[in-house]
Amino acid sequence: MDSLRNPYTPNAGATPEIVAGRLEHTRAFEVLLQRLMRGRTEQSMIMTGLRGVGKTVLLNEFADLGRAARWEIVELEASKHDDGQFRQTMASLLRSALLQMSPRKRWGGRARQAAEVLTSFGMSVTQNGTWSVSWDVEPAEGLGDHGDLALDLTDVLVAVGRAAQDQERGVAILVDEVQFLRSAQLEALIQALHKTVQRKLPITFVGAGLPQIAELAGDAKSYAERLFRFPEIGSLDEDDAREALIRPAELEDATYSGEAVELALEITKGYPYFIQELGYQAWEIAPGPQITADDVDAAREGYLAKLDRSFFRVRLDRATALQTAYLRAMAELGPSAQKASDVARVLRRESTQLGPTRAELIDMGLLYTPEHGYAAFTVPDFDQFMLRAVPQLVIPEVRRRQRRETDGADA
Ligand SMILES: Nc1ncnc2c1ncn2[C@@H]1O[C@H](COP(=O)(O)OP(=O)(O)OP(=O)(O)O)[C@@H](O)[C@H]1O
Ligand SMILES: [Mg+2]
Repeated sequence: MDSLRNPYTPNAGATPEIVAGRLEHTRAFEVLLQRLMRGRTEQSMIMTGLRGVGKTVLLNEFADLGRAARWEIVELEASKHDDGQFRQTMASLLRSALLQMSPRKRWGGRARQAAEVLTSFGMSVTQNGTWSVSWDVEPAEGLGDHGDLALDLTDVLVAVGRAAQDQERGVAILVDEVQFLRSAQLEALIQALHKTVQRKLPITFVGAGLPQIAELAGDAKSYAERLFRFPEIGSLDEDDAREALIRPAELEDATYSGEAVELALEITKGYPYFIQELGYQAWEIAPGPQITADDVDAAREGYLAKLDRSFFRVRLDRATALQTAYLRAMAELGPSAQKASDVARVLRRESTQLGPTRAELIDMGLLYTPEHGYAAFTVPDFDQFMLRAVPQLVIPEVRRRQRRETDGADA
């Protein structure tokens, strides 16, 4: 059918024509905002799920809902290459939020106070106390400048929350790829929120990311359980998956045969990204206006090729030979979570030797640990991709240096 009218959105973060399912979560978010606005407390959430299940889409929905409720939305995507940018980024995002809520000319005492705390917070970014963002507001004395991220962020969120309250507004900080926040950063956010909740301020933080989030220590750990729910975002159930497939086509006056739907659901297993990609390819192939099982079947090859080329391949591109072998060995063992010792056995090594490799893969967001001693792929169907991409498992040689060390230890 006409490519111009293809209604599917197989792109990271692209809002689909129909956001299927997820009502439970959007409703929870609305309740959170409404309760905070009324000076009530409510658990916020950190949503976790595999790649391509729709976490970013959901956060974007939250942003829309928040804006519609006149909340100021601060969006941040955490990065594994954060080179000490967190404080700076937070400072400038919150500064914008403050200015959006109340322009400088109309600042009352609380807005001015928030601005001053932000200056202190932003200034401690650099050694020489300058903040690259131009903003001629004096720093607040003794607030936001302790040099401890948790204490400083607490001062900032309290001050911004109070300024928001003054305006009968709220501020929601939405953090995507939350697994890339450093422990200290996530802890700081949690500690700060612990304070704003006590003060019943209309400011909150919602996160989304891979199942592997930073390990928390001390108070932050116990606060986290009370301050957050940790909903798991997964593949869509059958009804929602059907809707995600059919409804976009219907908007363009096309339909699916019953068999076509069944086949598509079987191929995609209800994963949102896979549904978008298969729907997209089937649309391209089908003469229409009804998409048949034959069309879906014919679309399969293009669908897989596209997934391999983009969704899967990008994850593997930066992997070293040993990392690739590790992933391939896991695939050898199957799609589920694998024990570190089993993977090591396939690679004819000790698990301790492979510990660093495994840690690197977790760090890169390719693996996560569903339980102690196990690792699983963060990308659905990655095992099958690995078998296609690397048909033969090649066990890399133990590197020379390591061998010498081992020889030395033996001698
Ligand atoms: N509820 C939904 N209904 C239909 N399609 C969806 C839904 N949620 C997401 N999608 C589609 O799925 C794909 C992946 O969505 P998104 O990028 O939000 O996933 P993600 O969980 O953030 O993935 P990643 O972990 O890679 O960032 C996109 O193509 C999007 O259009
Ligand atoms: Mg995402």
